Amino acid sequence: MRTAAAEATATAYVEDVSPGSGTLPPRARYTSSDAKSLSLNGSWRFRLSDTADAEDDSFAEPGHDTDGWAELTVPGHWVLQGHGSPIYTNHRYPFPVDPPRVPTENPTGDHLRVFDLPGDWPVPDDDGCGAVLRFDGVESCARVWLNGTCLGEFKGSRLPHEFAVGPLLRPAGNVLAVRVHQWSAGSYLEDQDQWWLPGIFRDVTLLHQPRGCARDFFVHASYDHRDGTGTLRVDSDVAGRVTVPALGIDVPTGEPVTVPVTPWSAEEPHLYDGLLATEGERVPLRVGFRTVKLSDGLITVNGTPVLFKGVNRHEWHPERGRALDLETMREDVLLMKRHNVNAVRTSHYPPHPDFLDLCDEYGLWVIDECDLETHGFTEQGWRDNPVDDDRWTPALLDRAARTVERDKNHPSVVLWSLGNEAGTGRGLTAMAEWIHGRDPSRLVHYEGDHTCRDTDVHSRMYADHAEVERIGRGLDGGTRKCRELPFLLCEYAHAMGNGPGGLADYQRLFEAHARLQGGFVWEWIDHGIAHPELGFAYGGDFGEELHDGNFVCDGLLFPDRRPSPGLTEFKKVIEPVAITGTDGSVRVTNKYDFADLSALRLTWAYQVDGETVASGTLPLPALAPRESAGLDLPAPPPDAPAGEALWTVRAVLASDTPWAPEGHVVAWGQIPVSETRPPYLTPTARPTPHGDGVLVLGPGTFDARTGALTAIGGVAVVAPRLDVWRATTDNDDGAAWQPERRFGPLWRRLGLHRVRHRLDAVEHTDHALTVRTRVAPAASDLGLRTVYRWTSDGQRLRLTVSVAPEGDWTVPLPRLGIRIGLSSADRVEWFGGGPGEAYPDTGAAAELGRWQSTVDDLQTPYVRPQENGARAGVRWAELGGLRIEGDPVFSLTARRWTTEQLDAATHRTDLSPGDTVWLHLDHALHGIGSQSCGPGPLPPYHLRAEPAGFSLVFSPLPTTPTGPTTPTGPPALTG
Ligand code: GAL
Repeated sequence: MRTAAAEATATAYVEDVSPGSGTLPPRARYTSSDAKSLSLNGSWRFRLSDTADAEDDSFAEPGHDTDGWAELTVPGHWVLQGHGSPIYTNHRYPFPVDPPRVPTENPTGDHLRVFDLPGDWPVPDDDGCGAVLRFDGVESCARVWLNGTCLGEFKGSRLPHEFAVGPLLRPAGNVLAVRVHQWSAGSYLEDQDQWWLPGIFRDVTLLHQPRGCARDFFVHASYDHRDGTGTLRVDSDVAGRVTVPALGIDVPTGEPVTVPVTPWSAEEPHLYDGLLATEGERVPLRVGFRTVKLSDGLITVNGTPVLFKGVNRHEWHPERGRALDLETMREDVLLMKRHNVNAVRTSHYPPHPDFLDLCDEYGLWVIDECDLETHGFTEQGWRDNPVDDDRWTPALLDRAARTVERDKNHPSVVLWSLGNEAGTGRGLTAMAEWIHGRDPSRLVHYEGDHTCRDTDVHSRMYADHAEVERIGRGLDGGTRKCRELPFLLCEYAHAMGNGPGGLADYQRLFEAHARLQGGFVWEWIDHGIAHPELGFAYGGDFGEELHDGNFVCDGLLFPDRRPSPGLTEFKKVIEPVAITGTDGSVRVTNKYDFADLSALRLTWAYQVDGETVASGTLPLPALAPRESAGLDLPAPPPDAPAGEALWTVRAVLASDTPWAPEGHVVAWGQIPVSETRPPYLTPTARPTPHGDGVLVLGPGTFDARTGALTAIGGVAVVAPRLDVWRATTDNDDGAAWQPERRFGPLWRRLGLHRVRHRLDAVEHTDHALTVRTRVAPAASDLGLRTVYRWTSDGQRLRLTVSVAPEGDWTVPLPRLGIRIGLSSADRVEWFGGGPGEAYPDTGAAAELGRWQSTVDDLQTPYVRPQENGARAGVRWAELGGLRIEGDPVFSLTARRWTTEQLDAATHRTDLSPGDTVWLHLDHALHGIGSQSCGPGPLPPYHLRAEPAGFSLVFSPLPTTPTGPTTPTGPPALTG
């Protein structure tokens, strides 16, 4: 019988600060043309224990009885396959901080796979060479046995680990046993803001290594923009020859060769197919020539400063977690390219290696980040931070080396990042020094040290616009080194829930100041987990004792990869072609850094009231980067109807590209020709009592006592009344640590979600019905004097609302408009901004036009329900039997639930359609900002509580069904 002490020794590696033992040195990732490989992905046998030492290691012996074990798919996380459950924390460690110790309760998964070698697998004796077993990613610590022999153990979850296994292999019945511990010393280095998901979540592969195989090599492919030549040198562990047929290159490894080339850039990702041939194998190369440099304080590629229009990408799939397949990765890349994204920070670990192949091929700049974050130490003033403790330095250097060695041959990788939010310390310096020495051809990034001691770029996250502008103008403080470096916002525009707002304002700054080389939106995709009852689950949904809720859903894509309005907005804001103009001409500016505009063509449409009257194409000169040209538009068609006219001009792909088909819209602009035409209505009808307490004014039926509108023509309504509340967004609520004023909590404290409507007077004069009210929350002297004035020309009904704040309002209003209920509505048509939602600081992508939708499709499915779906700049809308015109415009929102229900919901599945469709016809809305982790909306987007007035005109549509059905809802206009 083994003693507890013996067991503890047997699992000592789990809490050992070392990176592991028994693994091979890190090396480049490549696929050989010749050497065989065997994927060990698939169904494995699996057994879960509560502690690291609950079971002895006899399971690793061939012949072990696995009856009663479960089946598990590898790659995969066991907690997403019915064994245990995921945990989400942002930065807090979900275990006591006592490095390098981890809890005794340490879920441990024993994985077993029996495999035969394919018939043509070379017998070791035949070629005298071996084989390696490669794990591309295992969280967080594994010990591995093959055929009963312990190979070693490793940590570094999102990094490759290889073992030499040649002599151990048998033709058949090989037993591969892997013991995976959820928690290990390595967990202290992996405190990224994401789900904790243990398991073998990337590929497991057996690779044959013939005698004289390449093993490791480093492709150096630089470009000299002054003379258009590229220089290639491939350093290989094992000497051989390098050929690139298209360039006539045929040289020995280690020897540089310079020839004229087409360079690689993210915009024009030119790759040359080459081959490295050693004695034992041929390895296909994809060579991209480019030179990354700091020149005159700027990051340049091939001599040109680059503007990064980037995103932070965690690996995510709503069912499979971080176990991504190639098609999902490709989908990410295609979505990025189609949305004008040109850069990715692989937050906060090296991605699956195939992702970088896609970045090379389709063209994306990559900041490749090491698998390192120790953010939880901030809770204790960074005491005991592993990056400042020499005992951990070997583990840090191991992580740096595994990142750089694996990914060094990717032209897309232009910066290495040491990690994320790990404080400061000697370990980071050691990593930076090692990387600079190993690969001087790229720059080093790290945000966490604001002195920039170890880095080549000054990087910050979530700096507000004013600070970014100061930095752009060189007015920032800090060390001289930082001030001399180019600036990146490695994270900004927190895309949690509705938002991010303020993107266009950041982009204007980036484009105005050379030193600001762009940023990376946080983040690419919501990490919601598909859940049978909740739709998508987030932190806390698995009963975690510590969690950070829906902070894990802060992406530009919903968990199912549907683009959110934030991504549409980002695409518009970063579009590489600016299209502006005045009547008669259009100005086109090339905002690419490298590409001319020859890949695009220009289309135009002349539209009146949103209907296209004429359309065509315009010749687009192949403008070079930063060039601009004015082009004449054709004469407007002489027979065009009267109305609000504009030109819509689009730059579209002239032919198919690998990432989007011909015709794909890259950029667009609208050039107004004439003004909005507000509805004109002469008040001729008189308010007329009809007995039974009913008052009629034109098509409007009112309750004579309360002045509440009950129907418009045959359309019954829940009377409109002032509405200032919205279901607070994640950005309204803000993050708890935000020093600035967070309006969501302030609004709630003030009671804006529970205002009452006091009826003061109902007056009718010759041509108007006037209802006077005061709208105010309990326990406050703040109020909004609100007057509703109704007039009619007999066919239509005009409502004019005047609002006068009373008291000392120190906060803006969430919204200012009316809410009205309809008994039914489905199809919606409008002339205004669309097709998606738009708020004051998220409206760049709203295109003025005629749009159609349904009430259900107007909803934006934020994982945690919140204010959403407003269509901006609406001139008129038709739905539910009504036509509603703005004077001149309004924001339109329609829902099958109330704001109160939306506000109370925690998941989409909490919302069920009621009998009433609620319309919000808003005069104005408060901005969105990104205060869930950044600055709130800029002051111009605040909806100040000021005297305001607005008008809407209602009329029944001819097709209105006869006989009103009464919608259900709160009684109108009574307090
Ligand atoms: C940053 C961090 C990210 C993420 C983000 C908020 O501080 O680097 O990993 O936590 O905030 O979503």
